Amino acid sequence: MKSLKPEAILKGLKTKTFGRSLLCLEKVSSTNDVILKLAEEGCSEGTVVLSESQTKGRGRQGRHWTSSEGKSLAFSVLLRPSLKADELPEITLAAAVAVAKTIELFRMRPQIKWPNDLLLGGQKVCGILTEMGPKKDKMPSVVLGIGINLNQSTKDFPKELRQTATSFYRFSGRKIDRVRLFQRLMHHLEETYQWVVERRFSKVLSEWRKRSVTLNQQVKVSQGHHVFHGQVLDLDEKGALLVRNDLGMIERVTSGDVEIMTPKNRKRPS
Ligand code: BTN
Repeated sequence: MKSLKPEAILKGLKTKTFGRSLLCLEKVSSTNDVILKLAEEGCSEGTVVLSESQTKGRGRQGRHWTSSEGKSLAFSVLLRPSLKADELPEITLAAAVAVAKTIELFRMRPQIKWPNDLLLGGQKVCGILTEMGPKKDKMPSVVLGIGINLNQSTKDFPKELRQTATSFYRFSGRKIDRVRLFQRLMHHLEETYQWVVERRFSKVLSEWRKRSVTLNQQVKVSQGHHVFHGQVLDLDEKGALLVRNDLGMIERVTSGDVEIMTPKNRKRPS
């Protein structure tokens, strides 16, 4: 399987800054770590580190992220937004919209599970992890790490993930050109990031809502020791999830895990 090369990607890239400075590596601990190092050295906004494999790829809530060499995409983008800390989740939702729009170009209909999991046929095809750079940094930085499953077949997934994760290929039976997809994705990420920095987050919200699998659902929310059930009402203007709990109170959810309750898993311990 051929590794991605910057020359091939840069040839068809239509962005101003995203991916213009691009490092394609074979193996790293985590692309988020590599780009954080580059951020400390002052690299510019839009710099991307992509790697064929990660020994310590990480996901939300301390989970591990597995990618398959030559068959998936794992990369991080360095951003330097002038946003307040409580506005950072806007970037994550904007990235989810960008990934969804890119997948749609390939004739598939992804759904977004709050905050930023992309699903195909109810199974996860992409995960997004946004992390803050060091506070002491003169130019505050945010790392947007994205992992997408593209051309893996069932046997490429660890057994324990086969029920919950999928790839484009597993879902559609079609192989995807990784270079083409990456170029389109850079374009959409740059576009939706602009909506955030130009204070047009309402545009992200409306695009996110159109593709949401979470809105109106019965859910279980887990935030450490705070676990509750409820119904999702909407997103607020900052992208937090508004959930009416079983006591009828509205809780504003900005972190944690949100599990959609199906008739199967809806039975609760009495
Ligand atoms: C999640 O769904 O929990 C988020 C997964 C994010 C994975 C990507 S792969 C590229 C980047 N580097 C990492 O270590 N994680 C992110």
